[in-house]
Amino acid sequence: MAVVVGIETSCDETGVGIVRDGVLIGAALSSSMEFHARFGGVVPEVAARAHLEAMIPTIDAAFAAAGIRPADVDAVAVTAGPGLSTALQVGVAAAKAYAIAWGVPFYGVHHLAGHVAVDTLEHGALPAASIALIVSGGHSSLLRVGDLVRDPLHTLGATMDDAAGEAFDKVGRVLGLPFPGGPWIDRSAREGDPTAIAFPRGLTRPGDPPLEFSFSGLKTAVARWVEKREREGEAVPVADVAASFQEAVVDVLVNKSIAACRDQGIDDLLIVGGVAANSRLRAVAADRCAAAGLRLRVPAPKYCTDNGAMIAALGHLLVLAGTAGHDLALGADSSAELTSAVVAAL
Ligand code: KG4
Ligand code: ZN
Repeated sequence: MAVVVGIETSCDETGVGIVRDGVLIGAALSSSMEFHARFGGVVPEVAARAHLEAMIPTIDAAFAAAGIRPADVDAVAVTAGPGLSTALQVGVAAAKAYAIAWGVPFYGVHHLAGHVAVDTLEHGALPAASIALIVSGGHSSLLRVGDLVRDPLHTLGATMDDAAGEAFDKVGRVLGLPFPGGPWIDRSAREGDPTAIAFPRGLTRPGDPPLEFSFSGLKTAVARWVEKREREGEAVPVADVAASFQEAVVDVLVNKSIAACRDQGIDDLLIVGGVAANSRLRAVAADRCAAAGLRLRVPAPKYCTDNGAMIAALGHLLVLAGTAGHDLALGADSSAELTSAVVAAL
């Protein structure tokens, strides 16, 4: 029996999850998004202060939900990077303090590996080899994943400019939708026609790098299209623009993921990270994977966006694998490279 507490503070969510033997037994989440929304983006110092205020109440809420006591805990895992530096530091400092107080090992883990690990809570152990598409506010990457906590992680392709979530958020702003734009575009697009406007699909021409992404041209094309309508004094068909933009992103993400599976000879695809909550991405991926004979795993939407359960799930895998905890000298690494599930000692 191993009980692992996971702490996530890399952006605006203070998340705590508690996993016992691969099962999430308690979780709590506190978001500071309402304080950032009027700035159109997350303000690091505001986020860090909010983490500080939310940390102890969120830990207490997760313990209450799990019905356990500190003496029951076997390890503490925390996001050590990447993310907003000051925000990460609050979580890392708290995790060290709890690890000392409870006399248990401390693991500083990679945020993106956490996004992958969370899928084990719903769908069980990962396949021996899989392709993971990680799409979040800060990252868009295709990885080859073996044993998540024992093997190195191989990046097959990544975005050359904006992350997929960043493109959603910027287009949301252009369309006058609240921040973050992703969930609002998802909602608005349900009323729109995805074929209304033919927006460009970045890096999909012959000769383009097959597994790299680019979303800045698409974002600019949407902004130009909207500006032109406004200049001509015509109403902007928000739902059609949202649906057409979303279709362009989804089309590229799914096609390149399937290309990565083919290229690597791997039949299992995982789609994770905040953008994996997108309803159109989930539907198109399910259809095209079925047609291509690939198995698809996508966590439930609430586990796609940042949360503590994902860090607890990854910590639990590390404990099961017998990985030694980190030295308490480990610091936060805001730009941690994704080469392994843990953030190495600096
Ligand atoms: O993984 P995440 O919660 O935080 C980071 O690690 O960045 O991802 C946040 C991103 C934001 O850009 C947000 O707009 C996007 O995920 N997102 C969505 C949806 N829900 C969240 N994008 C498209 N459709 C959604 N339903
Ligand atoms: Zn994330």
